[in-house]
Amino acid sequence: MIKILEGLSSKLIFAPMAGTTNIPFRKICKKYGASLLFSEMINSDTLVKGNNKTLRLAVFDETERPIALQIFGHDPNTMVEAAKIVESLKPDIIDINAGCSVQKINRYGAGAALLKDLNMLGLIVKSVVEAVKIPVSVKIRTGYTNKIIVKEIAKVIEDSGASFVTVHARTRLMRYSEPSNWNWITEAKKSVNIPVVGNGDIFCAAAAYNMMDKTGCDYVAIARGALGNPWLFRDCNHYIKTREVLPHITLNERLSLILEHIAISLKEHGEVLALQDMKKHLCWYTRTLPDSENFRQYLFKVTSCSELITVIQSYFEKIQKEFSDDSLDSMKADKKFKEKVCFWLLNDTDVIEE
Ligand SMILES: Cc1cc2nc3c(=O)[nH]c(=O)nc-3n(C[C@H](O)[C@H](O)[C@H](O)COP(=O)(O)O)c2cc1C
Repeated sequence: MIKILEGLSSKLIFAPMAGTTNIPFRKICKKYGASLLFSEMINSDTLVKGNNKTLRLAVFDETERPIALQIFGHDPNTMVEAAKIVESLKPDIIDINAGCSVQKINRYGAGAALLKDLNMLGLIVKSVVEAVKIPVSVKIRTGYTNKIIVKEIAKVIEDSGASFVTVHARTRLMRYSEPSNWNWITEAKKSVNIPVVGNGDIFCAAAAYNMMDKTGCDYVAIARGALGNPWLFRDCNHYIKTREVLPHITLNERLSLILEHIAISLKEHGEVLALQDMKKHLCWYTRTLPDSENFRQYLFKVTSCSELITVIQSYFEKIQKEFSDDSLDSMKADKKFKEKVCFWLLNDTDVIEE
């Protein structure tokens, strides 16, 4: 197993999410037990053209290590050039995206479209592996159509020199409303000797343990489950070690985490971007709490981070007076949490279709 994975502090990895896995949120997830962080996907074409906005996605903080920077694209030469640029920033791992199912990305041959031509996938992985000195990994879905070719994909990736593979247990065509099929992670695990990271539908403390137990995967990557619930890493880690479910975090703990997230975001992004980013996270952090619809009405009118802090503090003061922590055990209802926090994905809109 590659050294970087051997040294990880837990079995839990924070999976990449475009528009979400930025420095502040990655730091929060690390604090709660994510042992390896991923950047969101970085466009190889615009990166090599020197686009500053793209380059910014690759920036990370030393405290985030170990970190993987993920690139996507369709052309081996451009991917190599992009990988070299990314390597110059000294991440621990370079990850290749072969799983994105967003139509406009697939249309130009990138993301999950790499699964259509395994020779091309192999060429891209091999070229990048040979061009850089750090480990290269690949994140995949299990097939481009609904035909499952996960074994073949994983084998090509191993043979091309990648250090590990992350398997999102859905085909490109599967919607989030369909459950991921962990048997495909088992198939990948059986077909290669490199480590396999399982991914798909981890929303509660027991799920990561169950995925490793059922599939034999070496690590588990969590994406949506961390939205508004970064302590899921802590819960899963504790369950893996003890088979016990920790009590849910209290309202006070939740409030101080939110305030910490705002502070990190302000420091990292400045007022305008922090405000924009935190409004999104506050919707997720509060979505399962009482009267959150009403709170969101206020939230969207807020024009500064200091106002944001006042609004969130008074909302928590109000609900703390009316509800005890025990009565707010809403996170227990995983399905409800999934429906409430990932509502936009369950509606099968094509806004985000990774
Ligand atoms: C909003 C959003 C953005 C995503 N962006 C990326 C991305 O940039 N790169 C990637 O490889 N996967 C991306 N994914 C896929 C996730 O990493 C993960 O594979 C998928 O959501 C399944 O895991 P989960 O059930 O834990 O959410 C994204 C998913 C979501 C919901």
